[in-house]
Amino acid sequence: MKNIGILVSGRGSNLQALIDSISKREINGTIAIVVSNIEDAYALNRAASAGIRTAVVDHRKFKSREDFEKELIRVLDDSKVDLVCLAGFMRVLTSFFIRNYRNRIINIHPALLPSFPGIHAQKQALDYGVKVSGCTVHFVDEGTDTGPIILQKTVPVYDADDEESLSERILAEEHKLYIEAVKLFCSERIIVNGRKVFIKQDYEEDKTTR
Ligand code: GRF
Repeated sequence: MKNIGILVSGRGSNLQALIDSISKREINGTIAIVVSNIEDAYALNRAASAGIRTAVVDHRKFKSREDFEKELIRVLDDSKVDLVCLAGFMRVLTSFFIRNYRNRIINIHPALLPSFPGIHAQKQALDYGVKVSGCTVHFVDEGTDTGPIILQKTVPVYDADDEESLSERILAEEHKLYIEAVKLFCSERIIVNGRKVFIKQDYEEDKTTR
């Protein structure tokens, strides 16, 4: 059973999807702690309602990024986390933090990376005029949304779309994809080889497909 730490800054719908999936015992893991850098993030209410331990580490209270990240690490290590999930966490993490959890931090991004990294990914996709977009779960490395890709899912982009409608369509897929990726990590089925991620076949799944 893996201990999961989830970093949030806002609404927390991806956090909720993970909470719901774990409560149905679909994932071989437990959410050990939810940490927010924003004191009134709605995600904290979701965690508290589910009886999950929460912490606030307000980045504005630290004089450097490293001091902020030291405190994040202290809080996460205190809960003995094996996996760190970024779920709408709006701070850039430096190599100081990333080195500490190499290939153990994952993020969900609302576009098909490497297209449209960074913020407002859905608007970037619309402005560019792509016909498909989607979401990506990837390991976090030192770049902005550049780490090894674990899973991706496409969604169509329609002529009538605006940022809101496209975001909504992508979000519905994010919730499913994040659960799937966390499930794979927690059952130790993810192999990272440089930039490439391979998924070990599940023996039970294998049997049913024969
Ligand atoms: C999601 O669109 C996610 O892809 C992006 O930030 C948003 C967070 O939404 N990284 P929520 O807080 O999980 O509802």
